[in-house]
Formats: sequence, structure tokens, C-alpha cells
Amino acid sequence: MSPDAIPILDVRGLSLEFPVFGGAVRALNGVSLRVMPGEIVGIVGESGSGKSVTAMTALRLLPPGGYRVTEGSLHLGGDDVLSASESLVRQWRGRRAAMIFQEPMTALNPTQRIGEQMAGVLRAHRRMRRRDALARAQSLLRDMMIPDPAQVLRAYPFELSGGMRQRVMVAMAFSCDPDLLIADEPTTALDVTVQRQVLQLLRHHARERGTAILFITHDMAVVSQLCDRVYVMYAGMVVEQGSTRQVLQDPRHPYTRGLLDGLPEGVAPGSALAAIPGRVPDMRHPPSGCPFFDRCAFADDACRQRPVLQPFPAAGAGPASADAETPEDRQLACWHPLARSVADTSGRRA
Ligand SMILES: Nc1ncnc2c1ncn2[C@@H]1O[C@H](COP(=O)(O)OP(=O)(O)O)[C@@H](O)[C@H]1O
Ligand SMILES: [Mg+2]
Repeated sequence: MSPDAIPILDVRGLSLEFPVFGGAVRALNGVSLRVMPGEIVGIVGESGSGKSVTAMTALRLLPPGGYRVTEGSLHLGGDDVLSASESLVRQWRGRRAAMIFQEPMTALNPTQRIGEQMAGVLRAHRRMRRRDALARAQSLLRDMMIPDPAQVLRAYPFELSGGMRQRVMVAMAFSCDPDLLIADEPTTALDVTVQRQVLQLLRHHARERGTAILFITHDMAVVSQLCDRVYVMYAGMVVEQGSTRQVLQDPRHPYTRGLLDGLPEGVAPGSALAAIPGRVPDMRHPPSGCPFFDRCAFADDACRQRPVLQPFPAAGAGPASADAETPEDRQLACWHPLARSVADTSGRRA
């Protein structure tokens, strides 16, 4: 990839709040993240950390008037999403970026057969005759390893299993050849085996087509199976960022460590959410210092007051000599980062 390639998604210092009775919920607090063409990037964090709001903002899917961007910018394929006209954003949806949600039933029309829905999407984006669109839909379903695509085309959504519906969603998302696929916990409701199959399909087809993926999850095991790079979010902030290998083998933020410690050794997928004691802060009253302060074993008084707003290059996180990464590739928002662990060549955490 050329060094001056335009990022597919470029979020800079984005702060966003929801006005609520008597105040505002600060959902995002200076979020910066970037997805380059063809990259598979994860966002991981507990429930309420701002993952979905980030994803929805990328396609301006939050209800207009229901939120306020107070700072920062968001560009999709080099274009400013926050100030673009509604008709432009509508053109970008599906084509520049397509979205897959956790529950496909909400995205699929229950009263229409799968074939009609897929053909409808295809025909809306590229002028295609109905017959050609149905044929293309069938081949997309076959790509998703659906054994009898003709039968699935005739089915209504309720007639399919959860895993099958999610495959249909993935096929639909790829159908307009988007530059970026944003997947918000798409496999969370699936059992472990089906989840692994869907992740493999996603990865395979993204690589084959050069599609970038922004994959949102609360599960570090899923990150390890799928992503090249990962952003760890907490309380509306990116607290750590780096290559998946670095972050999983050598977490520097105590929060990241906490997410990883909940996993059984060997990073089994679908494992229960890491149980870090305490709760995410009430973002109607965001803390002035580090938001992880009261759950962190390493916090001191300064952490309570000193803001850690911008993730900064992890000083001393120093790239391992074996890693072709510069220090800027690794970012961290913490006053007391964990000591660098000795790289464990077995691929397991030290
Ligand atoms: N429409 C809304 N009105 C008020 N608060 C909201 C709204 N949507 C999300 N939030 C709040 O924004 C924060 C981030 O939410 P979200 O991005 O959905 O978290 P995640 O996807 O990481 O679980 C949470 O505190 C959530 O309660
Ligand atoms: Mg969410």
C-alpha cells in the first residue's frame, strides 16, 4: 500500500454527545481511528464504551437532531461525512461502506423473500435486470458457502437459522462491492462453531476483494481470529491501539489487560465477557481524569485529575526488533502503562 493512500475511514478527535433531560451523555470523547484500504481493524470494549456510536456516525445513521458533534471530524474515502448532504451520504451507504448488525432480523424485511430483497439491493445500486440480479444474488450466496442458494432465495427470513440469516447479510453487504464493511457484533448471537465459520468467510472474501473491515466486538478472541489491528475503547475513548499481535501479546493499558485476563489461555472464541470489577462510568458526568481510574489497580491520585484525552504514542512501548512497526503505530492513553512483557514466541501471552 502506498504511504499516501487515502484512508477509507479517518476519524479525528471526534467528540459526540446525546442531549438528555437535564444534561448530556458524552458518548465519544476525542476518538481518533483510521482504516486503510483492505485493512481488517477491530474495535473492542465493554458494552457502553462507544463502539456502536462510532460505527453509526461513520454512515451518519444516528437520528438527526438526536445528537451533537462537539469536536473533531470524520471522513469516508476522503470526504467529510458530518457536513455532507443527505443525498450524498445515501449514495455512500452500501457502496463506500456497508453495515452488518448483530441481529439480521431487524435489517431484513420479514415479509419479503430473500431473493427479492437481495435483488432489490443490487438493482438499487447498479442498473440490473431482475433476472440478472437474482442470478448474481445466487452466486453471492454460493460464495457464502450456502449449500442450496436457490432454496434460500425463495425463503422468508424467519424460515432460516440465525447463522444462515447472518450469511445472507454478509452476502448483501458484499453485493455492492463496498470499500469498507462495518460489522457491529455480527456474530455475538451465534454459537461458537457458526461464529468461526462466519468470521472465516468474512476474512476470506474481504481479502479476495480488497474490502476493508471495521469489526466491532466485546470479545478479544474474535479480534485475535480476524483483525490486523485493534482499537481498545473505554468510556468513549480509545485507550490503546496497535497491531493485534502486539496488543494481545503485550497489552500496555490495564483495561486491555483486564479484557484479556478474562479469556482462557489460548484465546478461545465465544468465551464469556471478561469480568473486570466495577462498572463503566456514568457518561452524563464524565470523570475529569482517566475514566478507568476507579477500576484500575495501578491508579494514583494524579490519574483521577490528569486528563488522558488523546492517546499518545506509547513511550517505551518500543517496537520489538522483530516487529516492523514504528512507535507511532502503537498508541496508549495511560499514565502508568504496564511494563512491556517479554515477547513470547509461542504466540501465547506471557
Ligand atoms: N440515543 C442515545 N441517547 C442517549 N445515550 C445514548 C444513545 N445511544 C447511545 N448512548 C450512550 O452512548 C454510550 C455509548 O453507547 P454505544 O456506542 O452504544 O456503546 P457500545 O456499542 O460500545 O456498547 C453509552 O453510554 C450509551 O448509553
Ligand atoms: Mg454496541
